[in-house]
Amino acid sequence: MTTSEQTPLTDAAAWARLNAHYEQVKDLHLRELFEQDPTRGETFTASAGDLFVDYSKNRLTAETLEILVDLARERGVAERFEAMVTGEKINTTEGRAVLHTALRAPRGAVVEVDGVDVVPQVHEVLDRMAAFADSVRSGEWVGHTGQRIRTVINIGIGGSDLGPAMAYTALKPFTQREIECRFVSNVDGADIAEATRGLDAATTLFIVSSKTFTTLETLTNATTARDWLVGQLGDESAVAKHFVAVSTNAEAVGGFGIDTANMFGFWDWVGGRYSFDSAIGLSLMVAVGPDGFRELLAGMHEIDEHVRTTPLERNVPVLLGLIGIWYRDFFGAQTHAVLPYSQYLDKLADYLQQLDMESNGKSVTLSGQPVDAPTGPIVWGTPGTNGQHAYYQLIHQGTTMVPADFIGIARPAEDVGEHQDLLMANYFAQPEALAFGKTPEALREEGVAEELVPHRTFEGNRPTNSILLPELTPRTLGQLIATYEHKVFTQGTIWGINSFDQWGVELGKVLAKRIAPELTAGSDADLAHDSSTNALIRRYRSLRGR
Ligand code: F6P
Repeated sequence: MTTSEQTPLTDAAAWARLNAHYEQVKDLHLRELFEQDPTRGETFTASAGDLFVDYSKNRLTAETLEILVDLARERGVAERFEAMVTGEKINTTEGRAVLHTALRAPRGAVVEVDGVDVVPQVHEVLDRMAAFADSVRSGEWVGHTGQRIRTVINIGIGGSDLGPAMAYTALKPFTQREIECRFVSNVDGADIAEATRGLDAATTLFIVSSKTFTTLETLTNATTARDWLVGQLGDESAVAKHFVAVSTNAEAVGGFGIDTANMFGFWDWVGGRYSFDSAIGLSLMVAVGPDGFRELLAGMHEIDEHVRTTPLERNVPVLLGLIGIWYRDFFGAQTHAVLPYSQYLDKLADYLQQLDMESNGKSVTLSGQPVDAPTGPIVWGTPGTNGQHAYYQLIHQGTTMVPADFIGIARPAEDVGEHQDLLMANYFAQPEALAFGKTPEALREEGVAEELVPHRTFEGNRPTNSILLPELTPRTLGQLIATYEHKVFTQGTIWGINSFDQWGVELGKVLAKRIAPELTAGSDADLAHDSSTNALIRRYRSLRGR
């Protein structure tokens, strides 16, 4: 469906059916659903690549899924996916194609943008990245004083940081341990100061990652890093061996003083939050090696193919997207928790926050009309079991519905003693407790004192998806991330919004640019903001002795 053809979501026939159906099923309890259909736990499941997804503990019936799939059909999810992967300019507000899927297309595939096949360009950059990564990993690439690199610091923010940082943590067991990667993003000077503390500049390599190469945080951190390096090595020419760049903006890279021979490019058809499998993943490739990186790409490609070729009823990212819509738009759930039972996935929720919230945090449709249903949820989460001892109380007994994805790994890299079975016992127990709860009758049977019964009752009926991976490897991580990418795509398509722009981050940037000089110079009388902002700036100046 093209932008001009798009009709309001609430006019969709399936939408009206969902509204009516919701009234019939909204009070059904998961206890009843499982009682009615003893095979539910086996049939409400699907697989994509190595990912197994059990969506049986959701407040829906086979009919709910049928209507949701009809909604996906009516809103043209499959057609728009095809339009995206074949290079149509579906990012209409920026006039761009959206082709992160081309980043993992195999050599020889053809994907055209404006009549040009982009796949050879993708592989040309991948090959250059591989040669560079190999030379750093082998010690062939040496710094200004002839020493090999021991620390790689990626400087970037948002999509130029979160992906490689998340994947580096996730894939630690696959990294070359003699080289450590660090990630600097925040313009807070503490970030770069702590990342460089105690390091020897002679063995440190900076990768400045910025699609635009105009981002204030990244350029400020890169400048500070360059000063630190030149300060230690005492020679401006040292920059050449200690700084490389990843960007679409060769001119600005050259202007910063990085030799464009040491620049790795990508393209305007790769959105920042969809870019960690582009050259933005260079630090990750140094860490896991070119083969590991290619495995990650292969895993992502498997899911791209899954989405393209699997009927919607069994299409994992589509199903996850539809289930999310069911809760967001019909049950009014405002948040979605991602709860990986793997310490290696510590940064997954941070990554998914940008992927999902920057994509679907929109309130107008592609045609500029106000949306007629709530869009993207607030995405959050931390690894289990830590959250169990912090915020799970609210998920179990609070007044807010928190749909959650539980992600488990069967065979962990660090299979230490009893740890894994204890971890996974919790991974299985929490969704069970959330779904089935504990009734007052059961408590009374156990002899719980009557005055404690209301406090100890678990209502249950709290929805979850259980996602199970055999192992966490570059390939399965790629599958997991591509699954979430296409879940976000599915939802954005159904809502009829542009998941690929992010105008909402602009205003704050513009105002910060205006305020920055006011913090150091000018008189209080010159401040022309609202009274609150003026007073806060005055107080800050005074606290800084200005
Ligand atoms: O502020 C939003 C944003 O544009 C993100 O979309 C992007 O990932 C990030 O800033 C960093 O941008 P760049 O890679 O151009 O430095």
